[in-house]
Amino acid sequence: MSDRYAVVGNPIAHSRSPLIHAEFARQTGQNLVYEAILAPLDRFRQVVEAFRAGGGRGMSVTVPFKQEAWHLSNELSARALAAEAVNTLSFEAGVIVGDNTDGVGLTRDIAQNLHIELTGKRILLMGAGGAARGVILPLLELRPAALFIANRTPHKALELIGQFREYDAARVLGGGAYAELAGQQFDTVINATSASLGGELPALPPHLFAHGALAYDMMYGSETPFMAFAREQGAARVADGLGMLVEQAAEAFFIWRGVRPDTVPVLARLRALIAAS
Ligand code: ATR
Repeated sequence: MSDRYAVVGNPIAHSRSPLIHAEFARQTGQNLVYEAILAPLDRFRQVVEAFRAGGGRGMSVTVPFKQEAWHLSNELSARALAAEAVNTLSFEAGVIVGDNTDGVGLTRDIAQNLHIELTGKRILLMGAGGAARGVILPLLELRPAALFIANRTPHKALELIGQFREYDAARVLGGGAYAELAGQQFDTVINATSASLGGELPALPPHLFAHGALAYDMMYGSETPFMAFAREQGAARVADGLGMLVEQAAEAFFIWRGVRPDTVPVLARLRALIAAS
């Protein structure tokens, strides 16, 4: 019998996770199956419990259930605790363990696939929702020179800044409204807002990108307004979030199976598939 895993979300039909995990399993010779499960919006807990009761070993959790998964977990990793969101559930004897691999997915993509070092850099994080919160601790662990957080609704950015200053007051230096960034420059600008989903661009001031800067959009699939803005504004490197998707999956695979897959061919295959679709 193969070990069973699944991704749970709503919607879920377009999830790339089954393909990614099938590739990882094939590559590493792990005997597992990984499916996609649609959970009704008000039945996340029941869907998870049923999968677990049926012998499931773990689940990836995606929109909109990451916070519910956090509440459902009996044990949390430090990074899940800080993120207040869980994207990886492991079912162990009598215990649901929650982790969050999104942040490390982002930082590994930037370090290993884009070959860009964040240590000592000035980073701007756009957004103050779950996606932004999930990456702050892994970013701080790389010891950037400064981390700024800006958001359309400034008080949410200020709340996050206040909270994460408790982790690292020397690096979480400020932020708030986008307009307050005028005159500042950053080596890395990360879009963790959902603005790209609606084809929109947060109200960024011009001249944000320092010489050699990276612009990173967590969305993937097509060029976003933020990516286009970054190119116009002279960002040296512009990346979408496909690498983050593959790297967060690799970390979940490692948590479950104790084996680290090679992400490079999987990312290449996925990029080719998306380009052809
Ligand atoms: P997620 O869990 O994906 O982060 P979320 O918690 O709904 O989703 O947060 C969405 C983020 O995208 C927020 O930071 C939101 O800004 P507000 O807090 O002001 O709502 C941001 N966002 C969404 N659409 C946006 C837009 N058109 N322009 C700027 N920011 C936007």
